Parts: sequence; C-alpha cells; structure tokens
Amino acid sequence: MRKMKLSIVVLSLISPLVSCGNADNSVNSTQWKSYSGDPVIERKVDSVLNLMTLEEKIGQMNQYSGNFAVTGEVAETKAGEYLKKGMIGSTFNTFGADHIRMLQEQNLKYSRLKIPMLFAADVIHGLETTFPIPLAEACSWDLELMEQSARIAAEEATASGIAWNFAPMIDIARDPRWGRVMEGAGEDPYLGSLVARARVRGFQGIETYKDFSKINTMMATSKHFVGYGAVQAGRDYHSVDMSVRTLHETYLPPFKAAVDEGVTAFMTAFNDLNGVPCTGNKYLFKEILRDRWGFGGMVVTDYTAIQEMVAHGFARDLKHATELAIDAGIDMDMISEGFVTYLKELVEEGKVSEKQIDVAVSRILEMKFLLGLFDDPFKYCNAERQKEVVMNPEHLKAAREVAQRSIVLLENKNNVLPLKKNEPKRVALIGPFVKERESLTGEWAIKGDPDKSVTLMEGLEEKYKDSQVKFSYAKGTSLPVIDRTTQKVSTTRVPDRSGFSEAINLARTSDVILVAMGEKFHWSGEAASRTDITLPGNQRELLKELKKTGKPIILVLFNGRPLDLSWEAENVDAIVEAWYPGIMAGHAVADVLSGDYNPSAKLVMTFPRNVGQIPIFYNVKNTGRPFDEDNPADYRSSYIDCPNSPLYPFGYGLSYTSFEYDNAKISSKKLERGGILTVSVDVTNTGTMDGEEVVQLYIHDKVGSVVRPVKELKGFKKIHLKKGETKTVEFTIDEERLKMYNLDMEWVAEPGEFEAWIASSSADESNHLEFSLVE
Ligand code: BGC
Repeated sequence: MRKMKLSIVVLSLISPLVSCGNADNSVNSTQWKSYSGDPVIERKVDSVLNLMTLEEKIGQMNQYSGNFAVTGEVAETKAGEYLKKGMIGSTFNTFGADHIRMLQEQNLKYSRLKIPMLFAADVIHGLETTFPIPLAEACSWDLELMEQSARIAAEEATASGIAWNFAPMIDIARDPRWGRVMEGAGEDPYLGSLVARARVRGFQGIETYKDFSKINTMMATSKHFVGYGAVQAGRDYHSVDMSVRTLHETYLPPFKAAVDEGVTAFMTAFNDLNGVPCTGNKYLFKEILRDRWGFGGMVVTDYTAIQEMVAHGFARDLKHATELAIDAGIDMDMISEGFVTYLKELVEEGKVSEKQIDVAVSRILEMKFLLGLFDDPFKYCNAERQKEVVMNPEHLKAAREVAQRSIVLLENKNNVLPLKKNEPKRVALIGPFVKERESLTGEWAIKGDPDKSVTLMEGLEEKYKDSQVKFSYAKGTSLPVIDRTTQKVSTTRVPDRSGFSEAINLARTSDVILVAMGEKFHWSGEAASRTDITLPGNQRELLKELKKTGKPIILVLFNGRPLDLSWEAENVDAIVEAWYPGIMAGHAVADVLSGDYNPSAKLVMTFPRNVGQIPIFYNVKNTGRPFDEDNPADYRSSYIDCPNSPLYPFGYGLSYTSFEYDNAKISSKKLERGGILTVSVDVTNTGTMDGEEVVQLYIHDKVGSVVRPVKELKGFKKIHLKKGETKTVEFTIDEERLKMYNLDMEWVAEPGEFEAWIASSSADESNHLEFSLVE
C-alpha cells in the first residue's frame, strides 16, 4: 500500500459510539485542522481569511450551478449579482478551457479580493472519452485499470477547466431497484473500499498534497455520505434506517478507505439516516469524519440538500436548515442558497459563531492554495492542452480495453460463443440496441457526445468485414418511453409488435440469432428507480417468439443494474452483460463476441431471480433455520415460490475457457495473534483458449460474540493463464483480515474457528479450508 504524506491521521476504527443521532460529542468543532498540515499553507490561508469580510467568507461557502456570464459580461441574474459581490466560491456544470477562463476572468474582475473560483463537475466515468459505467468497470476486478480510467477522466477534465470532481460515488448498493447502482462498485465493502481507493488515486493523481499544484491533478469527492445505497425499497432519495453495526461494517468502509487514500472532499447524502438527514448529521460529519477519521478536506452538500431538510421535517425553514447544516460541519452549500441568505443573520443573532464560518472557509481556501489557483487562477484553462488531451487516440484505446474487461459472460450453452470469424454463419441481428447509439455511454456521461459512440452494428461490421460471418438486421421492437408525469410507461409510445414478424422471418433464415436488448440509458442513474427489473417493454415477448424458431440465441444486454433474467437464463443460449460500455461500445462488444478478447469480468452485484428476493447479497447472516435442501418443506427459512439462491451470485462470470481449482492448502491449522497463515490453490486453464480468472478468497468466522456473515470476501487476484497452464495462487491471512465489530462495537479479531474458500465465485465452495485463531 502506498504511503501518503498527508496530514490525515489513520485512526483505528475503534468504538463507534452506539448512536446515530445528533448529540454533539465532537471535539473542537471551531478549530481548523488543515488537510495538508503544512504551516506555510496554513499561514497563507490565515492571511487571506484576515482580509475577508463576513459576507465574503460566506460567499466562499456558496456553490452555484451553471453560468453567470455568457459573452464575457456578467448576466443580469441572481448568480451574476452574487458574483459581483465575490459571493460564489465554486461553480459546477460549466466546461471548456476557454469558457471557464472567461468565467474566472469575470470573477477576478468584479470580486474585491479576487479569490479564484473553484470549478467542479460530475466526471463519473470519463469526460469526453466515456468509459463504461462504474458498476461495469468494477466487474473487471482490475484496480489498476480503474485507476487508469479515472486518471484519463481527470486528464481530460483538468484540460477542460475542471479542478474538482464530484466522484467517486462509493455507496455500497444491494438493491438493484435503485437506479444509482450504476454509479458505484456494487455490494461488497471489501472490494468497494479497494475500488474507492483506486478511483481516488486515479482522479486526484497525487503522491503527496504538493502534487496538487500540477496541471493535471484535481480534487476528488467521496459521495454520498452515507447510506444512500440503502434507501428504503430502492426508491431514490428515500429514508434509510439501519443498525449502527451495518453502517460501520458495510456502508462506512469505502469512505474510510477514501480518507486513507487522501481524498479531498466529501459530499452529503440526500437521505436521512436513522431519522437525521445526512446534511444535518453531526454524528456523521463531526464525530466520524472529522474527529475519528481526522479528515481535513472539504464537505459539500448534495444538490439543494440543505433546503431539503425542510421537506424531511427536520428544519422549520431554510434559515433553520442552514443553522443545522453549519452546525453539522458542512463547508459548502450546493444550490440551496441557505448560507448566502441566512448565515450572516445567524451570526448576528449569535446562533452561529464566526469561528465556525472561519473553519469552513479555511478548508475551502486551503484547497484553492493547494491547487495553485492563487498563483494561477487559469491553471486549468489551456485551450491548446484541451485540444491535445481530450479524446486522444490513447484514451480511446484505453476506453476500448476497459470496456472489454467490464463485460460479463453470464451464459454460454454449447459454446455458442465466440462467433468465430472463419466459420460461415448467417447471423440475424435483432433488437433495439443493434443500432442504438444514444444509450451506450449510460447516465452521467457528462460531456460524452452520444453521436460519437460506436454502435454494436458498426463494431460488428468492422470486426467481421473480411470474414465468413454475414449479418442481416431487423429491429424487432423499440425501447419503451417513460412518461415522468404519470410515472408510467407512456401509453402513446409503447412499443408494438409490428416489427416482430420481420424479425422472426429473418431469424428463421439464419443460423444464429444475435439479439441486443436492454434499458434506455436514463432508466438507471439518479431518479431512475424501478419496481420491475425485467427487460422493459415487450423485449422478452420478442425473445419468446424468436425462441420458437429453434435457432440458437445470443443475447447482448445494455443496462445499468442487475436485471431479472430468470426467463432469459433458461431459454437463450448465451447472455453477454455489456452494461453501458462507453464510447467504444460496439468495438468492445465485438471484441468479446468474436473471442478476440476472452471475457474475464465477474459480477460485483448479485442478480436476483426476481424482484421479490431483493435485497439479496452474498454476505448474509445465517438464520436459526437455515434452508435444508433435503428437507425443503420443514419450516426452514425459504420462500414457497422461489429458491433462496440468486440467479447469478456475486463474483460470478464465465470465460470461453475453463478453469479448474485444485489442491487447496493451508500452511497451518492455527493462527497466532500477530502471525500469518498462507492459503493457496492451484488453478489450471483446462480449456482451449488463454484467459484470465479472478480468484477469490472468502472467510467465515464460525462463532462470534455477534453472528457473522456466512462468508466475506477478504482477498482476490486476477491472473492470466495460457491454455493448459497451472498457477498456484496464494493469499495470506493475518489477524487484521479476521477483524469485526464485537458486541461492544470494538474492532477486534475474536479467537475461535474459521473457514475459508478459495473460489471462482461467492457460490463456489469446492475448495474449503479450516483454521482457528488462538490466543
Ligand atoms: C447528485 C450528485 C451530484 C450533484 C451535482 C446530485 O443530484 O446526487 O451525485 O454530484 O447532483 O450534479
């Protein structure tokens, strides 16, 4: 692990107080502890702070969306008015080196102290070179790859005026109804923490805080703090009610990991956590983030989240919400205008101290100093650099490689795939995604131009141009459209069956049917929760008709969440989960279909059999009546209408080759405190192609002072094996890997019996080992 020379104190995760409320247990909420710990920077911050009026300080805490100047002159808008008073500390949703230069010029021209503005953006999966959605990328289990894609996103963003990224989103998500699962790394806190670190490393691009002065480094944001992924019933923005144990075991670890990696900003979550909206939650921001984790960076609210505390029923009005937010330790107000409208008044009334404001402003100013904006406010505004960097061929090549590695092969009966170039075949290309372009980059493709994405059709034509494989196309059906006003699939634009017969006829005269289906891009992402996670519209109906032709069916899916594929899994021959692969979509999918790239990705989120199993994830606790296959009806924890098991488990994914695990070994049956055990397994590529395999280590603590999950991911290695090759894969287990929150919420490893599996997925239990931790 890389050492960061940052002032962040890596505190142990001891004793989370068994409360989630708003009691003020925090220490020193009016003392500023800088991020860098650099006395020179601290003095510079103080010197600027000393020059500022209260109003100007409050202005630094105000974040605006969009433009306040259009043609070089400040617009006659509220934003324009704020700007003239030096009262916009940061802006987001503005892009382009020249455009941002012009906005910064206006800021410097009008504001008294000429404090540079901080330009932010949601660069979630690439700027113009759009990478696969983050959920897909995480399926690569390739941390270096994710770091590289984040780095490229940052290179493009910093060349386009952006100094601060509102990413990574590191919410653990166990509910595929929630549309925002597409933005994160799935359901597991161990993997999620490593991905969080990789993405923070990639976006920020620093070794030490001093590197922020470079031209291509930027701030990253851990969001959304916290619990957003656990919104009730998967409905976006809904309430979150969870035990303190679950919060600490499952939802906080990626955030702690981001702090350890030196992340510079946190964003609040929209939801309430156990009754307290996160944006007014002192327990989260003061007690955990600042006091326990020693975070010295900035905290920004989510969009209008201060204002929303009124609707939550937590604040009487915006003024009250403002007081609650500043009291919870929030530094910057995104959009609500609570700070600019009420903070001064609150100080005059003695409800907020100027010292509290000084602390928040110091954090903001420190970031501006670290980024070098006081030396050069136009540091990120070099149009020449933008031209060179954005969408350069290297970036496009990387986007294709990352996409290949994010595609999960879910089914491949009778080895219907790969579709070899040298085998004569007539392929019927059917479905709304064959020529779909707009959706391929997925939600949050912030500046990705959908017109530049490569469609599946284009990718296949290019791949197979000199081959024996011949394609013909029929759309078959369309994607349905949601009418946001009625919350229903629009009745006027429901796909009809008029395209079915053409598609069926084409299928009949072909050797194989390649169907491309999925969800329109905005069916996942923010405010895109679903209660039915089957393929939208009549896509399954079309598949049923195609099935009747008796021809093999390859189904390629483009979607942003785990879907209910129970019918498809049984009835089609191959399923390729392509997610939203980004700008190089068509090429990457063709690489996989042809076997030029042998798929290696594995799921990071469980696929349920149907929506009724949700929430479903692998690291569950056992019950007193575990299901017994030999006695299925014996009052066991099960359903009467569906198995307990998911359709596709966490960690699952196929390859065109096969891997055998054998010879599982453990160096000793006893682990002493402070000692190390080694577990290993031989993995052999027994198939006919070279390939990559993600070898996973799961551990189960058999008896605890509190019940432990049936298994927890504790390690993984992605290896490459030539056909016929064997490699021994080894993991070490020490006390640290066995730690848990005991009954008193202490972070300890309890002595006793453990079992471990070295496995190809969370459901694979064939290589089982046992050991105990002894005093
Ligand atoms: C989202 C955030 C995002 C912000 C700014 C909000 O609606 O929840 O994740 O960073 O908008 O675009």
